[in-house]
Parts: sequence; C-alpha cells; structure tokens
Amino acid sequence: MNTEILLTPYHKNIQLKNRVVMAPMTRSRAANEENAPTEDLHVPYYTQRASAGLIITEGSQVSKAAVGYVNTAGIHSKAQVEGWKKVTESVHDAGGTIFIQLWHVGRMSHPDFHNGNLPLAPSAINPNAKSFTSEGFKDTVTPKAMSKEEIKATVTDFVNAAKNAVEAGFDGVEIHSSNGYLFHQFFNATSNTRTDEYGGSIENRTRFFFEVLDAVKEVIPQEKIGVRFNPSLNGLFGMTMDEETIPTFEYIIKKLNDYNLAYIHMSEPFTDVSDIPYAVQHIAKHFRPLYNGTLMINAGFDQESGNKVIEEGNADLVAYGKLYISNPDLVERFKNGHELSKWDEDTFYTPGKEGYLDYPTYQEKAQIV
Ligand SMILES: Cc1cc2nc3c(=O)[nH]c(=O)nc-3n(C[C@H](O)[C@H](O)[C@H](O)COP(=O)(O)O)c2cc1C
Repeated sequence: MNTEILLTPYHKNIQLKNRVVMAPMTRSRAANEENAPTEDLHVPYYTQRASAGLIITEGSQVSKAAVGYVNTAGIHSKAQVEGWKKVTESVHDAGGTIFIQLWHVGRMSHPDFHNGNLPLAPSAINPNAKSFTSEGFKDTVTPKAMSKEEIKATVTDFVNAAKNAVEAGFDGVEIHSSNGYLFHQFFNATSNTRTDEYGGSIENRTRFFFEVLDAVKEVIPQEKIGVRFNPSLNGLFGMTMDEETIPTFEYIIKKLNDYNLAYIHMSEPFTDVSDIPYAVQHIAKHFRPLYNGTLMINAGFDQESGNKVIEEGNADLVAYGKLYISNPDLVERFKNGHELSKWDEDTFYTPGKEGYLDYPTYQEKAQIV
C-alpha cells in the first residue's frame, strides 16, 4: 500500500479521499449558443478525472458581462445549470468531489463579447493584453470603470451563481480572485485607481472581494467556499506588482482567519520573479504561517514536490493543472509509480474531443501498445 501523504485522505470542512486536486482549467468546449456544459464533452471529461481528491471546474462566468474567452461554460442560465447537473451526478456516481470555479474576467475581455460595449473593471485602465474571441486573439481595450450600481449588481451575480451551483449539485464553489481577473484588478493599485471606498487603501481595494464573500456565504455554507490568489503574478494577464501588492495579500489572508472556509488556494509565481523587488518567491512558505485553515498550493508541482510541500507543513493540498489535462488517472499513476503523459498545448482550447477526452489512462495506454 502506498502511504505517501499526497494520497492520504483530508478531512477539515471538506472530506477528501486524497490531497491531489485537479486545478481549474478553461478548456473552451462549451461551443453552443447557451455556453452550457454538454453530455458529450464535459460529463466524460470530468468523470474521467473523478479519482482526484477534489476537482475544481474550469472558470465559469457568473453572468454574460463576466465573460472574456470564447466558448467558456457559464453558471448563470437554466440551460447551464441543467448541463452542470449531469456533470456533478456523473462525478458523484464515480466517487468524486467537485467544486465549480466562479469567474468574472473584468477588463480581460473584449467588446465583441458585450454587443460592442466596454468590459467592466475597477478603473478605466487597459491591461494591454489579449482576449481570445471567436475571431482569434484580439487586443484588450480601455474598460469602463464600474459604477457603484455595477459593483452591487456584480455581487448579486456571484450570489445567483452560487445558488445555481448548489442547485446543480456542486459540493462547493471556488471564487476566482486570482490571475489578473476582476477581484485581482481591484486588489492591485496599478489596476485600481478609484478614489471611492473601493480604491486607495488596502482595506478599500479588498472591500469588493469581501462583500462578495460575505454575500455568497449567505447562500452556501462557508465551509464549502474556496478562494484563489496569485500574489506574485507580474507581467502576465495585465498585472503589475508594486510595493503594496504583497501587503494587500497578507491583509486578505490574515482576515480570512475570521472565516471558516473550505480552503485558500494559492499559486507559486507563474514566472521568475527573482528580480522583482516587491515579489515573494516562495508563496506557500511565506503565507502558511499567516493562515490557520486549509491551504492548497499550485503551479509547477509534481508527485515528489507535492509530497514535500505537505510534509514540510507549507500546504495541506496540492492542485495539479496541466498534468491533469494529459493524465486523467493521475492519482492511480502516483499510487503505482507509473510514467506520466505529456500534454499538448495546441489542443488546450480547441473545440471537440481531441486533446480533451482522448488522453488514455495508463491501463488503456498499455493495452493500445
Ligand atoms: C489550459 C489552461 C487553462 C486554465 N484555466 C484556468 C481557469 O479557468 N481558472 C484558473 O484559476 N486557472 C486556470 N489555469 C491555471 C491553472 O489552474 C494552474 O494554475 C496552472 O496550470 C499552473 O499549474 P500546473 O503547473 O500544475 O499546470 C489554466 C491553466 C491552463 C494550462
């Protein structure tokens, strides 16, 4: 029997059969008018991966205004809820546990998604990035600074999405407050230059996030809510760090001790940040002492480093992204010491089954050879 820590159960608010988590990944397979998950694609894709301790779904837009990439599945319409119901039923039947990631991209979007209107953001500052539209990558534009009414309406969108998630049978939700999207845009002073109660001080820049969290926990128990952060994101998704960035995340993480969440999900830096004076290079190590609850860590881990980060006490759970694209049976491969398959970047976001449903398990592969 394999007794390594990654493969042992985890019980604290959430009951997980192991500590291997499938990280949220946009795959752009909801290529239908409703942007609903489908029985042909999403159901088998997530079911194939049900041996993970926890699956976190692809980022799913909480409203039409929240979208920024083509063919991403949403969680705001009846058809989407019906589609997700089939996914959760099938994953549960296979013994899995599944959270949905609730997503608003903010300024990381394009007018093509909004009938020609501008995407919403804390401030009218162009991230100078790209948006993946039905006509390919397009330059982002200068977004519209959200009015207070629009901020309030967005809080309501998250609440409705969380209600829909419960109706669809999810075991919980993860609020996507990471990777340069809407909440992250509020956190960072380079993307938020507001002068009202949502900008300026650290408390003000984090206000919108906590308003959403407080409202969402009224419709789904906080023990079933996860939140995601990428504090040292710099030079990607339009994000630029400054001297207040890390203190802002330290404030958020410490404040989250007053909640009783399922977990905080953090990413190690996506790029080399050794020459960025404001960046923290070792996220788990830096933030673990600040937080009493469950800490999930991600980015660049393999089996060995995943075990190590837990053994050293710097995290409780490890989320695997790209490895889960190409290894649906990642847990079984870890258990048996089987070789891992490599992912194909060219089919990350292409329509249909290719590069989505056709990665064999180790056993299937052995039979093919
Ligand atoms: C194809 C692809 C899509 C992704 N989509 C999302 C997403 O929807 N939400 C999110 O929080 N992160 C997303 N990510 C980031 C992953 O969750 C993860 O942070 C990243 O892949 C690094 O982990 P890894 O080194 O284990 O792959 C995506 C990554 C990839 C490769």
